[in-house]
Amino acid sequence: MNFYPLDDTCNLREGYLKCFTIEGKELLLVQSNGLIRLIDNRCPHDGYSLKKARLSNGCIECPKHRICFQLADGSPLGGEAVSDVPGLVPYDLVEEGEKIGILLG
Ligand code: FES
Repeated sequence: MNFYPLDDTCNLREGYLKCFTIEGKELLLVQSNGLIRLIDNRCPHDGYSLKKARLSNGCIECPKHRICFQLADGSPLGGEAVSDVPGLVPYDLVEEGEKIGILLG
C-alpha cells in the first residue's frame, strides 16, 4: 500500500472542498460540521461531478438535482423520494505526520 498525501491537516477547515486525481480516481476531500470525508467526485445518483457541490450542516448537495447526502453516514436526505438513490461511500483517510491522505495499492 502506498500513502498518497492530499493536503496538510492544518489546511482543513469548515467548508473545505478540493478535488484530487490519485491513480486515475477523481476524489473529493471535504469538511462540513467537523466531519472530514474523502469521496468519489461522482454523485451516487447520476454520476455528476461534485466539484461545485454545496456543503452545509454536515451535508453535501449535488448541483445537478440538488440531492443532499449526509457526510455522517453517506445517506441521501429526502425519505421516500430518494429511497432508490445509493449513498456516498467514503474512503478511509490516514494521517501521516502533518499530512492527511489515502492508502492505495
Ligand atoms: S446527479 Fe447528483 S443529484 Fe442527480
